[in-house]
Amino acid sequence: YEIMPSLVGSEMCIRDSDIVVNGLKRLEYRGYDSAGVIVEGGDNNFELKKTKGKVADLVSISKDLEGTAHVGMGHTRWATHGVPSDRNSHPHLSNNGKIAIIHNGIIENYDTIKTMLIEKGFTFASDTDTEVLVNLIQYVMDTQNVDFPTAVRYALNEVYGAYAITVMHKDHPGLLVVGRLGSPLAIGIGEDEYFVASDASPFVEFTKEAIYLEDGHMATISLEKGIEIRAIVDNSVVIPEVQELKLSLEQIEKGGYEHFMLKEIFEQPKSIHDTMRGRLLVDEGIIKMAGIWDYLDKFTKAERIIIVACGTSWHAGLIGEYLIEEFARIPVEVEYASEFRYRNPIITNKDIVIAISQSGETADTMAAIKLAKERGAFIFGICNVVDSSISRFSDAGAYTHAGPEIGVASTKAFTAQLTILSLLALKLGKHNGNLSNVDFMRLITELDAIPKKIEDVLASTHDYVKNMAKDFVSASNFLYLGRGYNFPAALEGALKLKEISYIHAEGYPAAEMKHGPIALIDENMPIVIIAPRKGHYDKIVSNVQEIKARKGKVISIVNKGDEQVSAMSDYVIEIPETSECFSPIVASIPLQILAYYIAVYRGVNVDQPRNLAKSVTVE
Ligand code: AGP
Repeated sequence: YEIMPSLVGSEMCIRDSDIVVNGLKRLEYRGYDSAGVIVEGGDNNFELKKTKGKVADLVSISKDLEGTAHVGMGHTRWATHGVPSDRNSHPHLSNNGKIAIIHNGIIENYDTIKTMLIEKGFTFASDTDTEVLVNLIQYVMDTQNVDFPTAVRYALNEVYGAYAITVMHKDHPGLLVVGRLGSPLAIGIGEDEYFVASDASPFVEFTKEAIYLEDGHMATISLEKGIEIRAIVDNSVVIPEVQELKLSLEQIEKGGYEHFMLKEIFEQPKSIHDTMRGRLLVDEGIIKMAGIWDYLDKFTKAERIIIVACGTSWHAGLIGEYLIEEFARIPVEVEYASEFRYRNPIITNKDIVIAISQSGETADTMAAIKLAKERGAFIFGICNVVDSSISRFSDAGAYTHAGPEIGVASTKAFTAQLTILSLLALKLGKHNGNLSNVDFMRLITELDAIPKKIEDVLASTHDYVKNMAKDFVSASNFLYLGRGYNFPAALEGALKLKEISYIHAEGYPAAEMKHGPIALIDENMPIVIIAPRKGHYDKIVSNVQEIKARKGKVISIVNKGDEQVSAMSDYVIEIPETSECFSPIVASIPLQILAYYIAVYRGVNVDQPRNLAKSVTVE
């Protein structure tokens, strides 16, 4: 599963390989265990550099690249087939050295094809599925007397799995052939150059015009003939839709923060506000959501809502379940997308399936909604990345307008997801009459105040949490506890810590502690307990007493002026009070800051934690 930016430019020189390599830096958040770049050099030669490690390692070995032709491409990898190593890095070359490929995805039948190719005398320098595909293209060209783009098309018709590929051929200077199935691919249209990448971030400073290639399509790109898109299956011509990019350079840069994650934590007052903008109209007493306008009755008549998602988005889904069941009284089930699709679930055309995904590209979530759609369900997508695969596949949906999230650990996308789910639940509850006008007005007024409360919590807790994080640098375990709406917030707090600091952390419903995890508690066990005043407070007080009786170290997240839990806590983080249903949004902020600083003090690469990738486009 890998990522690539490529470029077709009018004058190829070292500047262009810089464009490719700089583009890789922008995509590195999606995968970062090895990197490579290739340009057309003089005399139709390829100049190839690749290495295990990060794009920074590639920069140091690719300084002497000098191209004179028109095409270059690069790649940053998250290993699927074969360990991260120089030889498994992309680009990969065909046996005759004429064809170069970069690939994001998995070729599932690579083994059968590899066996066939070995029988035909092909040899392989890597363990990757990608090298099999590039050799299949060569084999098609060798045996079927077809031109290069046709050979790519024939080869793609023989493979199954997921791919976004870019291919170059030495005998076809100035030409890129690209194709996609399952993995995203954007083509940027510059004045006298074209760009190809997994998303638009590598080329946003060069052009605002882009085409998002659809699944099952391929394109040839050259300065001579421009972009020609065709269906992989039958070569029929496709008329592309050129879109204007809304992304700005500023949005994808760190803006003075040490890490994207910290920048994104601090962006939350704005990202939540942006998510509500034009939707939450308190003065008019309404919630306007274009995405559900035509489907309100469908929602209110739904027998069931099933939420599918992974990771952080799944945690948001759990809070969505509480919100929708409480305010709209529609039964909700929340499923790990990866489990849902493989357990033959009962789905009917009276079900609505909500897919939640920051990237909109998560393979498991995509597969889950494909299955649900096949079985007649209506699909509602909640995505952050505009025009992502899940958003386009959905029947309707709502974007979280959190802006690009680059840090691998999701922060602002999570709170934006909670904001959308709150809007949705309140809107449905009002529409189907389960929520009185008085309660609706009270809740939307509360929700409207959340960005300001996040601003306050950032200002009042940042320094304290940053400082206390030093005390936990050597911790080996953490427990996170919460009840009701804050149980999923506890799960999310634990996920944040483990993914960026590599400290083992578990989230639990506070009352479940006594059914097992309590055995872990001793004086070395830090326990984060989310205890806002509204939300089973008395029960949580008892839980804290149980922890203290076993000498656990309590870090509590409480409302300002709290006395009981604070008195028993070793560390007290105060957050402003809000309705219970919105409290996970506020409580998540110090949990994000805590995880961030513990990871920073442990010397970990916060934005690119080991083994992870931002968008998981493989199953
Ligand atoms: C979040 O911090 C994680 N890196 C991860 O769990 C993520 O939420 C998950 O992979 C789902 O991604 P998506 O929202 O883009 O679908």
